[in-house]
Amino acid sequence: MTGGAGYIGAHVVRALEASGHVAIALDDLTAGLSERLGQTELVSFDLASPGAKDQLIETFRTKNIEAVIHLAARKAVGESVLRPEFYYQQNLNSVINLLEAMHEANVLKLVFSSSAAVYGSPELSLVPEDYNCKPINPYGETKLIGEWMISNAQRAWGLRAVALRYFNVAGAGFDDLGDTSVANLIPIALKAIREDKPIEVFGSDWPTKDGSCIRDYIHVADLADAHIRALEYLNEENREHLVFNVGSGQGSSVLEVIQALRDVIQKDFKVNLVARRAGDPAELAADVSRINSTLNWQAKHDLLSIVESAYRASLN
Ligand SMILES: NC(=O)c1ccc[n+]([C@@H]2O[C@H](COP(=O)([O-])OP(=O)(O)OC[C@H]3O[C@@H](n4cnc5c(N)ncnc54)[C@H](O)[C@@H]3O)[C@@H](O)[C@H]2O)c1
Repeated sequence: MTGGAGYIGAHVVRALEASGHVAIALDDLTAGLSERLGQTELVSFDLASPGAKDQLIETFRTKNIEAVIHLAARKAVGESVLRPEFYYQQNLNSVINLLEAMHEANVLKLVFSSSAAVYGSPELSLVPEDYNCKPINPYGETKLIGEWMISNAQRAWGLRAVALRYFNVAGAGFDDLGDTSVANLIPIALKAIREDKPIEVFGSDWPTKDGSCIRDYIHVADLADAHIRALEYLNEENREHLVFNVGSGQGSSVLEVIQALRDVIQKDFKVNLVARRAGDPAELAADVSRINSTLNWQAKHDLLSIVESAYRASLN
């Protein structure tokens, strides 16, 4: 699996091993941490580099790879706006190299990490997979183009693939696997609390129940489990669906997340309500009926358990 030393990837590695698979992590360690992998084998190179296709073919052949879970990507939305070429170079060349190598080495199963960012700013509060995707930043575009490339490969040469569109991934399945990237609300808030700084809330006048933005938080352990279900789904040919939302199916507001942090940490901290951020949709949550019924998967952890596990891991 690619991106195996990352926050989500390391959880997927452990879920694979717990379900009897042998996982090999491919990661260039630019954002990943090798200590997350324990005894799991690590192969390290940049998937987007010109030589990566041959390195992948070699890896597929020598390690008898049967399926690929592709999580490696640059994922900072703001950075993607400032450095679009870098995001296209990294996230798209990775998919091209991977698809070419899989085709040549006859590795036919792929699970792709996509994102709710493909939807942009939808008009619906619960978005279904067949909603018209209009990403609003280069990061979301790379995910949508990745999905297109994969579905074309599926039509052209028999690749069997699913794309999982993750919503807001948070929490920790293990205390040593917390999200260290400080790119999402909960890690940002935990860092602010640690440093005794106020938590910034962007916008308090959104048309939502309490004026703050609403998002769908999914526990990373539940998400890891969805990858195992997706792999099982690919064991059979001619599967009907390519794309699945992975979320809880419930929106939580930023202020509700902050309240959950107060409940868990039992300590007061400051919150600054500041202006809205450009490009933020008011509300984004997943319609999860397809993944519920087709993969027989649903989120088990609620917001409090997400926040509790993230807090515990942040103390590690
Ligand atoms: N965290 C979220 O909330 C979220 C939401 C939606 C989608 N995603 C997607 O999930 C995937 C994993 O995200 P994460 O939060 O674990 O991020 P992460 O940065 O912790 O993990 C990504 C890993 O991929 C590696 N990597 C990146 N580009 C690479 C390249 N060109 N070659 C080799 N290795 C490379 C990094 O070193 C890192 O270990 C990404 O594809 C991301 O876009 C994440």
